[in-house]
Amino acid sequence: MAAEPVLLPEATWWRQAAVYQIYPRSFADANGDGIGDLRGIISRVPYLAELGIDAVWLSPFYPSALADGGYDVADYRDVDPRIGTLAEFDEMVTALHAAGIRVIVDIVPNHSSDEHAWFREALVSPCGSAARERYIFRDGLGEHGEIPPSDWDSVFGGPAWERITEPDGTPGQWYLHTFAKEQPDFNWDNPEVREDFLKTLRFWSDRGVDGFRVDVANLLVKDLPETLPSRAELDALDRDSGTHPLMDRDEVHEIYADWRAVFNEYDPPRTAVAEAWVDSPVRRAKYASPDGLGQAFNFDLLTADFDPEAFRRIVTENLAQSATTGSSSTWVLSNHDVTRHATRYGLPPLGDRKGVKQGIEWMIAGAPADGVDPALGLARARAATLFLLALPGSTYLYQGEELGLQEVGDLPAEARQDPAYHRSVHQPAWSYDGLGRDGCRVPLPWTSSEPSFGFGPGGAHLPQPEWFGAYSVEAEESDPASTLHLYRTALRLRSTLQGAETLDWVETPGTALGFTRPGGWLTITNFGQEPVELPVGELLLASAPVENGLLPGSATAWLRVPDAAASA
Ligand code: GLC
Repeated sequence: MAAEPVLLPEATWWRQAAVYQIYPRSFADANGDGIGDLRGIISRVPYLAELGIDAVWLSPFYPSALADGGYDVADYRDVDPRIGTLAEFDEMVTALHAAGIRVIVDIVPNHSSDEHAWFREALVSPCGSAARERYIFRDGLGEHGEIPPSDWDSVFGGPAWERITEPDGTPGQWYLHTFAKEQPDFNWDNPEVREDFLKTLRFWSDRGVDGFRVDVANLLVKDLPETLPSRAELDALDRDSGTHPLMDRDEVHEIYADWRAVFNEYDPPRTAVAEAWVDSPVRRAKYASPDGLGQAFNFDLLTADFDPEAFRRIVTENLAQSATTGSSSTWVLSNHDVTRHATRYGLPPLGDRKGVKQGIEWMIAGAPADGVDPALGLARARAATLFLLALPGSTYLYQGEELGLQEVGDLPAEARQDPAYHRSVHQPAWSYDGLGRDGCRVPLPWTSSEPSFGFGPGGAHLPQPEWFGAYSVEAEESDPASTLHLYRTALRLRSTLQGAETLDWVETPGTALGFTRPGGWLTITNFGQEPVELPVGELLLASAPVENGLLPGSATAWLRVPDAAASA
């Protein structure tokens, strides 16, 4: 059993790293404009260091009109003036590195903002010009080109094509936007686009960035014939074949091979993790190839119920897949796109929710509401997190989950910013509740009493509910049983326990699931309601009080057991 922290060799630091996602606009606001900023992050480096994470991943902080929370990038090689400056970025990297925390930034290559200089140039340039060739422009159908080139929907709802006005003032061509209309898709067949992204990767790598999170990595390459397939035709196509016209095409990996060559120019090589919502672990593994991005998010647990069979199957499948590429698995329960897991786990099981009335009833506003049980959600969230942190591979944590923060379900419509909400109000989109993604992006509560709960001196860009104070860092600091203390202890212990990237399942009672890691680190999660008896061993940590050797329902315990007993 290793007693000392296992110091991961530099070049492989990412393999079992705990990475904390910062959504910069909602983390900490130093200048009081209601939007989080780099100075805010710098001021919280001691907090991050105490939390015990290995790296931070920053969602976009680039200049942006915020049509999609910053995922509409107007300039890939600058900082939004509301968030900071390049000099402050450098200062932040230095401060984080000095605290032993690596830095991952978000790269958004499928689309830019419609305010990007290239798109503006395209709008004032003629049809067929080099400027238009950087994006995907098409003539419309119909006598006057008034019908969009195809009937495709955008991911956020509504049509995927937007018509422009030509420089001479006449209605003109249409451009493709897989997401909001302010996010025109790049044409990745164009070498200029490819070159520009290599430049961006070098730009941030030169500034000391350790890695990249690659936004919708599976969508870049498209095969768009003269006559486009209809939505119905697209829906009928196999998404897993590598030949779908719009997603997960095999050729996309040629791009990532070029990126890998850039990453390997650096010492240690820069890392990358693909956000690729593909259908199977087999397809996902392609993104995680060492000749490509090296790692890919695995969202399987995030989209599963709190259920031992599902957890076991998902872990087994994904460990097997990552072994085929030599990558490490990744584990995620929350991020800026989904309902926070402390709330999600308080909802009825997914199967029971399909087709039922969706909306505010499913969310919480500080107290149990119909259909949601925040106390159960939190207990399960704590249990699931300890389960996750014990797995081989790296874990991605989302800001606020270390506080057990719940989703804010009752944001007024006029306060909501998410285009997924506004473009598809009438259908569930991008979260289980159909309310969009603002509820997990509400600025963090740092204190229980100050205005904006210590987020900043000038209010918060999304309204914080009154009950946020109870989840604040300040409130949780003084409560030894808080989720914050659980995360801190777990992360610290984890760094001493992590060893070889393997696990063995152990025999457990029906509602429980257990596994050991080399060195005798045993994890038992009780997915049921009735307590289960823990095996003999030294109790290291539990997500709920263990009495008389009994692990309560919806809880996880970590134990140290003799190695032989672990593998028996
Ligand atoms: C990714 C991001 C999401 C964004 C979308 C379009 O899925 O995580 O927040 O809206 O891509 O860039």
